[in-house]
Amino acid sequence: MSDKKKFYITTPIYYPSDNFHIGHCYTTIIADAIARYKRLEGYDTFFLTGTDEHGQKIQKKAEDKGISPKEYVDVIVENAKDLWKSLGISYDKFIRTTDNEHVLAVQKIFKKLYDQGDIYKGEYKGLYCTPCESFWTESQLDENGNCPDCHREVHEVSEEAYFFKLSKYQKRLEEFLESNPDFIQPISRKNEMLNNFIKPGLEDLCVSRTSFDWGIPVTFDDKHVVYVWIDALSNYISALGYLSEDESLFKKYWPADLHIVGKEIVRFHTIIWPIMLMALDLPLPKQVFGHGWLIINGGKISKSLGNYKDPREYISLYGVDAVRYFVLREVPFGNDGNFSEEALINRTNADLANVLGNLVNRTIGMINKYFDGIVIDKKINEDIDTELINFVLSLKDKIEDNMNNLEISVALDSIFEVYRRCNKYIDETMPWILAKDESKKDRLATVLYNLIESIRIATVYLQAFLPDTAKKIFTQINTDKIDYDSASTFGLYSGGTKVNTPEVLFKRIEKE
Ligand code: MSP
Repeated sequence: MSDKKKFYITTPIYYPSDNFHIGHCYTTIIADAIARYKRLEGYDTFFLTGTDEHGQKIQKKAEDKGISPKEYVDVIVENAKDLWKSLGISYDKFIRTTDNEHVLAVQKIFKKLYDQGDIYKGEYKGLYCTPCESFWTESQLDENGNCPDCHREVHEVSEEAYFFKLSKYQKRLEEFLESNPDFIQPISRKNEMLNNFIKPGLEDLCVSRTSFDWGIPVTFDDKHVVYVWIDALSNYISALGYLSEDESLFKKYWPADLHIVGKEIVRFHTIIWPIMLMALDLPLPKQVFGHGWLIINGGKISKSLGNYKDPREYISLYGVDAVRYFVLREVPFGNDGNFSEEALINRTNADLANVLGNLVNRTIGMINKYFDGIVIDKKINEDIDTELINFVLSLKDKIEDNMNNLEISVALDSIFEVYRRCNKYIDETMPWILAKDESKKDRLATVLYNLIESIRIATVYLQAFLPDTAKKIFTQINTDKIDYDSASTFGLYSGGTKVNTPEVLFKRIEKE
């Protein structure tokens, strides 16, 4: 058995009610960058994503198209997998809540909670729109108190339903959150949960429905299907084989180290989910990170407003790493960030083309021009080199700190600070002037070696964020010293190596 430390990271499972947009990509790209970073650091990492396929909304969409819900979601799931492939998402498992293993686990979990008295039968009262066959809460209604979808009248109705006793675990949850201040990130969301939702008192949660049937049947009462959160949240353990014949992954990876979720579902992950786990007598996840949203012109990304494209269009226009870079860099820790094609172009031009692309291209170009492509450290050092080297080597601590604090955009910027520092070093050392003086040839070789080595080190970290670009850079500078530890030492790039032909990493995008 490996003695590597493990790291289990998850995204939410997405509703496949429509094809995914750049907002869904955002959550998944963050999780991917963290997973890649942890693998790079040497953790035995398991990265889970998937789809949350049941429910009335999907059932209705399928009916409208005259196909079964499963046929409906199958198409969207294939499309999602293709999208993740084009974004370079390195998940280890893609779970679907229609997977047999998941269905069986949810049924066992539901039954266990029922048998031990944590789930009981009661009556659900709600506001029902008959034409839409949907339940609404008071706060969801439109300004006239009508159905928010079709704007017709709603009626109070009640139906038999099962409830989960959240109230029983309220005290334990409060104590847990108070004594684990890092559990919810950013910390401001923890106060929101405690003060707005938990302390005022938890109501028991309705966990089954009889008004539609596209869901997991309750084994001991087949009028009912499991409703939303018990089905959805269980994915994090069913995906590891919890309660199946083979629990080896579960034993190895549970508890999760990090659940990445959007801010609007932090509530479910920090109230219902811990309580479910307490009731199942399982360890709780170590951390839940609630990220902000990508918004467009200050508002929601929305199909009905038609304010977005298929993310693959951006990928084919600007390249996968331009899209990854934008979402990872643009949104600060936990806040919302604005998405626009113009901002994406500006970022790509400013950072990827001007700073990084230019640096790599210029450096390799000079090595080719002055030394026929051969990099050799002649060790004619000046003070300015020491300053550069120290700056490059300080990157490790910065990245580790930033990543531990989930400040991904800051981590990425720290890498680009090194590239910027290298460009400044070129301006300071002026290789083209050194090249005019034969007696400065060895100094010139040292300068170019320092540049290549600085690029190598920063790019070791870049692999977690922009894997394609990092690979291209390693090929161009012709090195296999790309593991995490190799970035702690300056000077590992082998002298005498011949670099490859420079290729443009990012073309400047001209705005129409
Ligand atoms: N199925 C539930 C989650 C169950 S997890 C056990 C769900 N699905 S969702 O498809 O509506 O949203 C999934 C994730 O996508 C959420 O974390 C949500 O915040 C994220 N995003 C959806 N639109 C987004 C943006 N515009 N910006 C950033 N993230 C967005 O909720």
